[in-house]
Order: sequence, then structure tokens, then C-alpha cells
Amino acid sequence: AKRTGPGGNAEGALAALREEAAHCRRCPLWKPATQTVFGEGPADAALLFIGEQPGDQEDLAGKPFVGPAGQLFDRALAEAGVDRARAYVSNAVKHFKFEPRGKRRIHSKPNAGEIEACRWWIDQERAIVRPKVTVALGATAAHSLLGKSVTISKLRGEPIALADGSEGWVTVHPSFLLRLPDEERKAEEYARFVEDLRRVGERAK
Ligand code: URA
Repeated sequence: AKRTGPGGNAEGALAALREEAAHCRRCPLWKPATQTVFGEGPADAALLFIGEQPGDQEDLAGKPFVGPAGQLFDRALAEAGVDRARAYVSNAVKHFKFEPRGKRRIHSKPNAGEIEACRWWIDQERAIVRPKVTVALGATAAHSLLGKSVTISKLRGEPIALADGSEGWVTVHPSFLLRLPDEERKAEEYARFVEDLRRVGERAK
């Protein structure tokens, strides 16, 4: 059964969880970060995306996937015919991890301990939303979803049976596409990403 919150519904449960996560001290990343960036989207979404962690802009805005990676993600979703507003979008790690460099804050990768500590939240988000399909964007998200370190290229393209009986998929992270230096390769990889999104969109129908 769906977990229910004070409102007796999944929406209320998510709101309560978001409030709890705002005060998270489960790992040290909360301290230098501006705020917890919790997931966003309908509590009854059939499709749930997991990113890595908020970036600089997400940390300031308090919303997932609003910076450069988010803009690429939005464009790819639109091309794939997937309505972002109907999906639940979250991250494996809820605080921005960075190294200060002058005035800039340079993203640094969450480690296994931080991913583990933060599973507390994404596991509960998934338990409340109960999506038909969960998509891990990149290695950190896949590690969080599957509970172990995996290779994206080995698991990509096929559904993965998750412990709760629902379906998991892995694909690349939009930042991987942003970082590709070769334009031709970038176009190919972008097309593959759009195709993955189109497939998961179909599976969630
Ligand atoms: N990258 C992520 O993985 N998540 C965000 O929210 C933004 C960038």
C-alpha cells in the first residue's frame, strides 16, 4: 500500500518528508551547501528520474535540474515526448558537494558513504510515489538505486527488476553529454539519450 502522511495521502507524505529532509544531518554535506534540494513532481508520477546531486544553480534555487544539465535534460525530454511536469525528478544526493575555487564552486562527486547516507531519502520518495519506472541518470544514481557500484554501459538498454517489483532503467547523465568535446560524438550520444527517454516514457504509460 502507499505510505500515507498527515493528509492521509501520498502528497502529504511527500510534503512531510521534504520538510524532514530540509534539516538533514545524515552526512556532512549539509554544512557548506545552501539548502537541501528535494525531489519535485506529482506524488502519483509513473516515471521517476534520479540524478546525481544538485549543482551550483540547483543549490541556490532549491530545485533539481534547473542549471545547464537541467536545460539539456528538458530539451531531451521534450524531444522524446516525455512531459517533465508529469514525472518525479530527484537526486541520489540532496546537497551540493563542491570545492571552492576563487568565487566559483566546482562540483565534486559524492562518495559511496554520501550516496549510502542519502538513500534514506530517495528510498522513501520512491516508496511514496511508487513509480512504474525509475530511471537512474548516470553512475551515482545507478549506485543509489541498485545499492552497488555498476557500469552504465553494461546495464543500459534493458529493464532491471527492482526489489519492490517495479522496473528500473539506467542511462547516462546529461552532464556527460555536456562534457563531450567532439560534436559528432555528442550528437550521437544525445540521440541515444533521447531514445532511452522515449523508451522509458513508453514503459511508464
Ligand atoms: N545534476 C544532477 O544530477 N542533478 C541536478 O539536480 C542538477 C545537475
